[in-house]
Amino acid sequence: MCAAAKDAVYVTEDLIASDIDAYLEKHQHKTMLRFITCGSVDDGKSTLIGRLLYDSKMIFEDQLASLENDSKTSGTQGQNIDFALLVDGLAAEREQGITIDVAYRFFSTDKRKFIVADTPGHEQYTRNMVTGASTADLAVILIDARQGVLTQTRRHSYLVNLLGIKNVVLAVNKMDLVEYSQERFYEIVKEYSHFAEQIGMTSFLPIPISGLAGDNIVTQSENMPWYQGPPLLSHLEDAPLNVAQMQDAPFRMAVQWVNRPNLDFRGFSGQIGSGSIKPGDGIRVLPSGKTSRVKSIVTYDGELDSAVAGQSVTLTFTDEIDCSRGDVIVQADAPCEVADQFEATLVWMGEAEMLPGRPYLLKIGTQTMTATVTEPKYEVNVNTLEHLASSTLSLNAIGVVNISTDRAIPFEAYDKNPDLGGFILIDRISNATVAAGMVHFALRRSQNIHWQALDVDREAHASAKNQTAKVVWFTGLSGSGKSTIANIVEKKLHAMGKHTFLLDGDNVRHGLNRDLGFTDADRVENIRRVGEVARLMTDAGLIVLTAFISPFQSERRMVRDMMEDGEFIEVFVDTPLEVAEARDVKGLYKKARAGDLKNFTGIDSPYEPPEAAELIVNTVDLTAEEAAERIVEALTR
Ligand code: ADX
Repeated sequence: MCAAAKDAVYVTEDLIASDIDAYLEKHQHKTMLRFITCGSVDDGKSTLIGRLLYDSKMIFEDQLASLENDSKTSGTQGQNIDFALLVDGLAAEREQGITIDVAYRFFSTDKRKFIVADTPGHEQYTRNMVTGASTADLAVILIDARQGVLTQTRRHSYLVNLLGIKNVVLAVNKMDLVEYSQERFYEIVKEYSHFAEQIGMTSFLPIPISGLAGDNIVTQSENMPWYQGPPLLSHLEDAPLNVAQMQDAPFRMAVQWVNRPNLDFRGFSGQIGSGSIKPGDGIRVLPSGKTSRVKSIVTYDGELDSAVAGQSVTLTFTDEIDCSRGDVIVQADAPCEVADQFEATLVWMGEAEMLPGRPYLLKIGTQTMTATVTEPKYEVNVNTLEHLASSTLSLNAIGVVNISTDRAIPFEAYDKNPDLGGFILIDRISNATVAAGMVHFALRRSQNIHWQALDVDREAHASAKNQTAKVVWFTGLSGSGKSTIANIVEKKLHAMGKHTFLLDGDNVRHGLNRDLGFTDADRVENIRRVGEVARLMTDAGLIVLTAFISPFQSERRMVRDMMEDGEFIEVFVDTPLEVAEARDVKGLYKKARAGDLKNFTGIDSPYEPPEAAELIVNTVDLTAEEAAERIVEALTR
């Protein structure tokens, strides 16, 4: 976000000069509207934003200073900047920032403060638009009156609606270039209405404007007496805020931290996401379901008699119940649901495509957990609204998937409560945000299947075999020697009276995983299934050996996380590609080089070597027998 956000110094004409305290007081109590502008490349977005900044006569000092330096004008008042120059400046900034992020701009009128997220229009920046729109109260969708509804208009509108922005302005711009034609305006409104209906957008406000000439921006345009609605800025000043709309919903607050300055005080801090609360109200802590009553509502300004959505507070309870960061405090008699499997829409923002079955980090409210995504049920073609069959999602794709989290979480459908239904997915290795998600509903099965406690447990199984269960996970290129070495290791362990089982890539792919090929997605699923099988076998007390290329760090780590501490032993069979290729026992490298075998590991499909394997065996200097010897030695040590 722009640095100006923090140290804002407003430049305004009269009040600052005459009575700074009165100005600050007035300013502090103004509400803030966040909105997003979306449009195509040439529809005059910068001009419109420039017009809003210019006509509202208040912009941040640093923005002003840089513009004034350029123009060599003096003076500190908003009106003194040249309008054309302001627009050029914004457009240039937009150009420079275009691949980076959303540009946030700030302005203010006597009635309200505004943050506008200015996002680039090209298709490849869906990501930016989602970032800008996720907190917006309102969206201004710009249309060039000469062009009408374009593909990009449809895509932006779809996204705006998907992200739950209920207040939409259709700004039909450049009316001056169509002779302020009422007929043209209604033609566009009619076309847009038709589309809005298709995507389930319930309402929008069309306004005919000219950003350049200033028509219907601040004041009613004299050029379009046929338009009776409000000018854009008045509408922005009066539009309802999300936070105000959330106040009537049941009480929800995600706990950000537990406040325990001394033994006598234990408070739970966070921002109220929806509803209101007062001392004496019954509450329930989710997911545990424990109940209590609110004893007090504490803030920096003292205790409150009540608090509503949008306020940051610390709550204390009348009972000592467990409650920690990530829990959600809800109204006792109107709780939200708790589940660990959901249907959701994902907007994919990762450079690398989505891999069903891969564990990603999921951040929702104040919680972070591990989650996996299924194959999309369908992908949406945002331009035509068609549902397409797809096995993955790539950059900017939107699809509906099932998500399963590693623990149950309190949630609400996104369209009811974006706080408890909106989430992001993060890649565990690169830490990049790869998707924004919107929860639709919980899958029933997650509520109807419970873990069954078994009396003969994994310890009982292992001790009957007089051993500790383990997974010895071999990883390395095809032809590195994994299967050969694992086979010798198993023979040695077997000879020692150990109960073992060897899962080998080529063999498992003949049965359990016969349906899988060698795309990244299929390899992820291959390892996920093998991990689950290995886990069951350790439950049975076995020492499991696995020989799979398992090329990705993410999935090897996923299997490691499925096991108990110390149970997973990663063995990197470190054979350089040249050596494996020179051996070429199965003749596959030759085929791959000739182009007859696609997605071959090391040739046109990646291999990510382990960063911290428990054991590394070098098959250049050691024979398979020697390598196996060392592994057995390490295992029995
Ligand atoms: S993994 O990448 O999903 O872990 P896995 O270990 O099950 O692979 O299978 C690898 C074996 O499949 C190789 O040893 C090789 O014999 C065979 N194979 C066939 N096609 C490929 C390919 N495109 N890439 C790698 N191995 C392949």
